[in-house]
Amino acid sequence: MIHYNDKNKTFHLQNDQISYVMKVDEYGVLSHCYFGSRLPRYSNYLSYPVIHRDFEVDFVDQNQKTKRDWSLGNILQEFPGYNHGDYRHPALILRQMDGSSVTDFRYQSYEIIKGASSIEGLPHAYVDSSELAETLKVRLGDPIHSWFVDLYYTVFRNHPIITRWAVFRNESAEPVTIERMASFSLDLSPRPSEIIQLNGAWGRERMLEREAVHRGRKVYDSKRGTSSHQQTPFMALVSPNTTENQGVALGVQLVYSGSHELSVEQDPYQQIRLQAGIQSTGFHWKVEPDQEFATPQVVLAYSEDGLNGMSQAFHHFLKNHLIPARFRDKERPVLINNWEGTYFAFTEERLHAMVDSASDLGVELFVLDDGWFGKRDWDDSSLGDWFEYKTKLPHGLKGLADYVHSKGMQFGLWFEPEMISEDSELYRQHPDFALHTPGRAKSYGRNQYVLDMSRSDVQDHIYHQMVAVIEHTGLNYIKWDMNRHLSEVYSSAFPYDQQGEIAHRYMLGVYALMSRITSRYPEILFESCSGGGGRFDLGILAYMPQVWTSDNSDAVARLKIQYGTSLMVPTNAMGAHVSAVPNHQTGRKTPLASRAAVAFYGAFGYELDFTKLTKSEQSEIKDQVAFYKNHRTLFQQGTFHRLLSPFEDDGNLTAWSLTNDSQTESMVMVFQVLRKASQPLQVLKLEGLKSECQYRVTQVLGEGAWGATLSKEEGGPEAEAMSLTDSACDDSNSNNSGVESGFQSFEASGAELMKAGFYLYPQVTKDFVGRLFYVEAIK
Ligand code: DGJ
Repeated sequence: MIHYNDKNKTFHLQNDQISYVMKVDEYGVLSHCYFGSRLPRYSNYLSYPVIHRDFEVDFVDQNQKTKRDWSLGNILQEFPGYNHGDYRHPALILRQMDGSSVTDFRYQSYEIIKGASSIEGLPHAYVDSSELAETLKVRLGDPIHSWFVDLYYTVFRNHPIITRWAVFRNESAEPVTIERMASFSLDLSPRPSEIIQLNGAWGRERMLEREAVHRGRKVYDSKRGTSSHQQTPFMALVSPNTTENQGVALGVQLVYSGSHELSVEQDPYQQIRLQAGIQSTGFHWKVEPDQEFATPQVVLAYSEDGLNGMSQAFHHFLKNHLIPARFRDKERPVLINNWEGTYFAFTEERLHAMVDSASDLGVELFVLDDGWFGKRDWDDSSLGDWFEYKTKLPHGLKGLADYVHSKGMQFGLWFEPEMISEDSELYRQHPDFALHTPGRAKSYGRNQYVLDMSRSDVQDHIYHQMVAVIEHTGLNYIKWDMNRHLSEVYSSAFPYDQQGEIAHRYMLGVYALMSRITSRYPEILFESCSGGGGRFDLGILAYMPQVWTSDNSDAVARLKIQYGTSLMVPTNAMGAHVSAVPNHQTGRKTPLASRAAVAFYGAFGYELDFTKLTKSEQSEIKDQVAFYKNHRTLFQQGTFHRLLSPFEDDGNLTAWSLTNDSQTESMVMVFQVLRKASQPLQVLKLEGLKSECQYRVTQVLGEGAWGATLSKEEGGPEAEAMSLTDSACDDSNSNNSGVESGFQSFEASGAELMKAGFYLYPQVTKDFVGRLFYVEAIK
């Protein structure tokens, strides 16, 4: 998969789908040649012409030899330096002991390694067998100091994906300080481009925004100490004509959960530079002699099949090479989480009633959220005291766990391991454990402080407390939350000239703790969370296979949140729950069926108190759970296609689907937010089917369902009882009245369904209607 042409000094990384080509130029600069669809071979004449540009400085080497017309600013580079004639943004800035900062690395050697190399202390992609990938290590060196940069590139046999990262090594006699180091830098020759990025806020995570790349440098970043709700470490460079199914899309995701910086820069000659890495504001890293510093990994995906092509490339890659392999094919249980059902105000009795009802409805995992430890009745106490709250749980956690297990269900618990409350035993004993800057006030966030996770004694303390609870209780699931961002970042464990390292050392400490716990308990299902989806990134997914996507569980709000999130990760990584109405975040009342229609496209569960529902709502939920279980493999393992975007037109219609590998079945969701007068008819075109195959399309959920019960073969006996009608928002328990005639099940070829599409008719008669269509191959 990796070839070096000695004559032309080119490296060609390729598989059946992509090629990535670099060249060592006549002055030893590692320059970029090509990243795109597979080229059988790369001819040297395709190289980027170096032309004269006024006011670019001329190249000079160590012997003061100079070359007019040849400037670092005019070439496409793989890892550009600083203060030496390239005025675009550098990948690396080094501050030397004498204060100087020229950074100029040139090619020295290369090595080809079988498989995918690991990065110590940082999450990264893996392979099950060394046949599945090859890694190129290119060593660059400084002309006067014994400093080296090793650039790593891994190409994977079955994916249009390249991973990159870099390691700086100091073999000189003096320390040197890194002021900025990107994980990757990629220069592309001119082309009209747009960027898609995912930004947001609490309860409104990963909103898709698309904008033209203009002259200058645009940065998408987080300085919050986490990847954040505000800016996800993802971006995609696309052409103006790229759609969901056509056109070029180059996706970038950082495998990192801390403060980050992604950028796109267009220079005067329309050369484009993409970069991603650790946030450089406030960052310094002192590298002592014989030490090294490794950046986080970046994952690059290339597709000419539009955004669906790019995100499917990411999804398949993450399932096979990043999310822990033990969860690859493992069924995720249907869960109930008590948080929105009770918040902190639960009693053992109430929890038992919730467990009983969940078990009756077919739910498989009961999760006790915040409030079970220390003396936690509100958000202002007990974080750091990971022992049971006896007043609330007279029979202890073990008693509750045994009760849940006796019902044949699994038991899960919430932790917030990185935090400390001022009102806690831990704080009274170790006030210095809280991240703080000496002499300055500590900011509160949600009434709590952040633990100094850069310290191994702090990590140990939390680790041992968690192990004790896990051992005592027999946990099957852990929700790992993180409810504030970092401030006053400083650690008393490090000297003054290493304080710029603490934000990154915090992340390394968290990864060390996650790695210790998850590897000690590989059978436990971990779900990450940070006030909803505030830390949803590939760094986390390398330890925990699913993430709570957002605290906003309103079905309408979730359309955009899940649509945006699907650009980067597979649906089974996104926690998605049906919650009560009026929704606690938006106040909106949506039908129970619509809430399920959206939540089915995620790691599915419920977050309400079943005991407060009517009998008919309970029975509808029982049907939903049975339906989900009948189609669980399709929902959890299918290939995801986005069909109609809530970010386009007026956002009234969203559609997406999951299709199995053999393309014999697909489950399509269509959601209409508002009913409108004189609404034009809508055509829905499907994706991912076999053109020549004949399919039957049946509406199986939502208003207008015709013959709404599934056949016995489809759904088994329980399915027959399913009246998949439009259900109550709250008390109305409405039926399908108002629908003139139902949707007719019909048969058509895959080609027809994908090219001509079908009319969404009859039109729905209410607001907030989610419908599911089951598409099944019949010949
Ligand atoms: C924030 C999470 O996103 C919620 O789901 C819940 O676990 C609360 N924290 C508990 O404090």
